Parts: sequence; C-alpha cells; structure tokens
Amino acid sequence: MSTNTPHQEAFASLSPAVMRASTVVFDNFEDFVQRKQRQPDGFSYGVTGTPTARLLEQKVATLEHGHHCVIAPSGAAALMTTLMGFVRGGDHLLVSAACYGSLKTFADKWLSHMGVEVELYPPAIGAEIAALIKANTRMICMEAPGTVTMEMQDIPAITAVARQRGVLTMLDNTWASPLGFRALEHGVDFSIQAATKFFSGHSDVLMGCISMNDHAHYEILRETQSILGQQVSPEDCFLVLRGLETLALRVQAQSASTIVVARHLAAHPLVDKLLYPPLESDPGHALWKRDYQTNGCLFSMILKPAPEPAFHGFFDALQQFVIGASWGGVHSLAAYYPAALQAQRPFSATDQPVVRLSIGLEDSALLMADLDQALAAYGRAMTAT
Ligand SMILES: Cc1ncc(COP(=O)(O)O)c(C=O)c1O
Repeated sequence: MSTNTPHQEAFASLSPAVMRASTVVFDNFEDFVQRKQRQPDGFSYGVTGTPTARLLEQKVATLEHGHHCVIAPSGAAALMTTLMGFVRGGDHLLVSAACYGSLKTFADKWLSHMGVEVELYPPAIGAEIAALIKANTRMICMEAPGTVTMEMQDIPAITAVARQRGVLTMLDNTWASPLGFRALEHGVDFSIQAATKFFSGHSDVLMGCISMNDHAHYEILRETQSILGQQVSPEDCFLVLRGLETLALRVQAQSASTIVVARHLAAHPLVDKLLYPPLESDPGHALWKRDYQTNGCLFSMILKPAPEPAFHGFFDALQQFVIGASWGGVHSLAAYYPAALQAQRPFSATDQPVVRLSIGLEDSALLMADLDQALAAYGRAMTAT
C-alpha cells in the first residue's frame, strides 16, 4: 500500500519539510503493537508531532543548553502542561505573584479545586522561599522579570533551595529568551518560552516550549502532551523554525534599541518611573546585571498620575506603536493595564496604571519621537481634565 511518502531521491533544501500526519503508519504488526515504545522521541500518532516538530524541539533544546524540549500550542499551554504533568491533588504549589495571569488563574480556579494547595509568594523572596516550603511542596513557579510589573527574581537562590528540598522549579523565561538567560544552567528544571514572542518574532503564530535536562521529566511531559491533546501544527513549527534563523539578530537589535528608548523615557518629565531591570534605578537591577545578558524588548512605565482620558490621549496619538497585548515581534506595541489590576494583586510593584511597551525593529529615533508626541497628547489631556 502506498503511504504517500515521497521517494528519497537526491534532494536537499535549506527549508525544513512540513510533515503532516494524524495517523502514523507502521511497516508490520509487531511495530504497531510496540508503537508506544517509540516515545518520547519517536512517532506513533500525530498528537505528539511529526519530524517537523522534533526538529524544532531539538533546535530549542540546543538554544536552551538543555537535553530535551516538548512544544505546546501556545505559551499558556506550555505553562499549564508543565503543571498538569507534575502537580497532583494534595500537593502544595508556590507561584510568584508576578507570574503570567493565566497561570495564576489556572492555579486558583482549577488546581485549587482539584485539591492542590496554591500559595502566591512575593517575587523578590530569594532564598527565603525556604520558609514557605512544606513536606508536600511539589513545584515553584517563577517568572523574571514578572509579567507587566517586571520584578526580578533571584533564580539561582530559589533553585538552590528547591534542589536541596526536592522541589521542582519552572521558570517562564520568555522575556530574556535563552540568549539572555540560561535558565537550565541556573538550576531551573523546566524553562518555558512563549515562542509566540521572540522565537516566532513576527506576531503571527502562537506556540510554547518546555525545555529540560532530565529524561524522566521529558517522558512525563511527552505523555502529558499526548493525553491532553496538545498537538502543534507542523506549519506553525515551520514558522517558528524560520523565526529562529534570525532570533539572535532580532534579540540583539531589539535589546540595543530598547535600552535607548527606555533611557529617553526615564528622563521625560511626564514619566514617573520605568519598571525595567536593565536601568540602574530599578530595584531588580543588581540581579539583572549579575545574571542576564540582554536588555529584552519589553518594559513598563508609570506616568505622572492623570485620569483615564489622558491615557486615551496617549494611546490614540501613537503612530509608530500599534496597540496590542502581545510583545517580542518586529513591530513595536503598546498595551495598557489599569490600576485596578495591580490593586487586586498581592505584592504588586505598583498600584498605578501601567503602560507596557514592546520595542520592535523600527528606527529607535522614530519610536522616541512617536512617544514624545503621544506624551505631549497625554500632557494636554491631563491639563484639560
Ligand atoms: C511572559 C509570558 N508568558 C506566557 C505568555 C503566554 O503566551 P501565549 O500568548 O503564547 O499563550 C505570555 C503572553 O503574553 C507572556 O507574556
């Protein structure tokens, strides 16, 4: 029977092949019966991916200086798959209060109803996390800098305590990417990337990656991916593989431009403060300087207090920046997080409205001029109200 697999005639391409399959076919009865033994690397059913997914996983594992990677259909899916792989009813889960919102919601609205004891901790806790660890603590979730409010975490201090106490750790390392922070080399068990951001780089695909060193963890996550049906489309794998070809150049250029734009804004009279660890004024600067190699492309800013209409003025005046909630792509983005969001959050770095900027590949002079004129509109609206 034909399987529609092309003949292996002499052919080579710089592009990875996009290999689609729900059904994987087997040469004989024995192979079919033994198919599960092909996991976690091999192919037995489309849900765990085809060679296109495996190629991407290998490239990401190499980038992360790790041994294994499992991809998921979004950054959020990568976070939740990691939790579902390892956390069970009766376990205690420690989550940084600055972690990505849907991770906290999943822990609070789902896991806690499945018997998991969920505890939020202040992101700056460092080695003092030891005091929160209980006999049933299973995992510590970290993110640095934290979503929206950009708190740094002392990752090596936390992972040292966790290893000593037999607790797993996961880090959402999307801000830095592995080029800015080698999570696994700093003792993290699971390094998570929302590949939606820097890895894909063009704001047109969602994906997540979980990288690790331990083979037993890899087997568990491959099974979890399969059981939860977390398949990733080979076309999306192709797009992220293509994004990775320019990752280092994009990260370098965006990182260089971001610090310039941030310093410019920090000196603006209408800017109260920037939440951005690469700036000396940031409380997380010493940790950033010790552990991180890049400036990222994302920071937040607190403007001089003004009523909400002034923020309308700012956002609607933007011409180079596009209004949108994501980040990490080649186009600069601006997002707004109202004060109420910070007020609801324990251990928040601010109780003020936050403007978050993602710096893309545009000319930084144009971006700064755009921000200046939008801040002028903010100032006008401020005095008009
Ligand atoms: C730090 C961080 N982690 C995870 C995610 C989730 O990624 P995705 O949008 O691919 O689900 C995001 C998305 O905004 C994020 O900013």
